[in-house]
Amino acid sequence: MSSISNDIKLAAQLIGNGELVAFPTETVYGLGADAFNAEAVAKIFATKERPTFNPLIVHIRDISELEKLFVEIDDALLKLAEHFWPGPLTIVAKKQQAVPDIVSAGLDTVAVRMPANQTARELLKLSGKCIAAPSANRFGMLSPTTPEHVQKQLPELKCILNGELPKVGIESTVIELCQGEFKILRPGFITEQDLMKVLPQSKAKEANSPIKSPGLLKSHYSPRKPMYLLGNEPEYSANKKYGFLAFSEVKNPDKYHQIERLSTNADLGEAAANFFEALHRLEDSDVDLIIAEPVPETGIGIAIMDRLNKAVYQYRGK
Ligand code: TXA
Ligand code: MG
Repeated sequence: MSSISNDIKLAAQLIGNGELVAFPTETVYGLGADAFNAEAVAKIFATKERPTFNPLIVHIRDISELEKLFVEIDDALLKLAEHFWPGPLTIVAKKQQAVPDIVSAGLDTVAVRMPANQTARELLKLSGKCIAAPSANRFGMLSPTTPEHVQKQLPELKCILNGELPKVGIESTVIELCQGEFKILRPGFITEQDLMKVLPQSKAKEANSPIKSPGLLKSHYSPRKPMYLLGNEPEYSANKKYGFLAFSEVKNPDKYHQIERLSTNADLGEAAANFFEALHRLEDSDVDLIIAEPVPETGIGIAIMDRLNKAVYQYRGK
């Protein structure tokens, strides 16, 4: 059994020794290794059973570390960094050769972010390393927002750091930045409107842009139970137990064996913060299948629907 620990010093030592540490960020838990130690980073892929074509995000503590990672640090990048960091924005740009290929999955770009979580910042400080970290789930499964979620999926880990828990609840917004223009590769808490306010000259790139994110798979974030969007579920069966992931009000609660309400007053931020936690509870319950209510696609609702659509993808045909 892996151990949940409050010992940040020990965690920092493990990172320094090329070992893995699961740690909280303000979004979800990450599975970290020294980004400049290719052997250590290889352990992340092995532990998660993650395909090596899916690149990782490098976490930093200070803007001065960007020089080690990016070849060019232009005005647009600095503006975004100064405005949104520390915080849930990941920026993809041309990488320095010294960044190991395994981190970037052989691409000539690398993804970087500066987390706002105090435990993550302390780990970065004490280790003195840039830490490469994907979400600390087994590949394709639900992202973890508590140490116990990590333990459930990755029991073999030596160190799962306890500390300040994630608040945002959904992974960072990932953008690619190229010549002052950005393209959102993965929606998150920071929206296109937020980004446009900081880069008003920039027009968000069109969907047919050649920029691609290799990790953007259609199916992802899935609980270990069949899951359907409300309105797309199979015909009701009296001998099945239904779990319901509700946005807010529930009209016919008697239909469901277990209900998880994401928000008490239809607040999308609250819904995002509770999203993975609620899905973990439904996954761990005795329901046979999960029905999820769509949320309004504005603000962080876009990111929630992105995760929901990926979670139900394999069951979309009924
Ligand atoms: O909030 C988060 O971003 C969390 C915490 C731990 O920081 N991390 C996270 O990592 O969600 P992960 O590995 O689950 O997702 C990283 C995403 C993937 O969709 C990947 O394809 C994309 O970032 N990405 C990473 N490097 C990239 C690159 N060079 N070009 C395009 N996309 C990249
Ligand atoms: Mg992930």
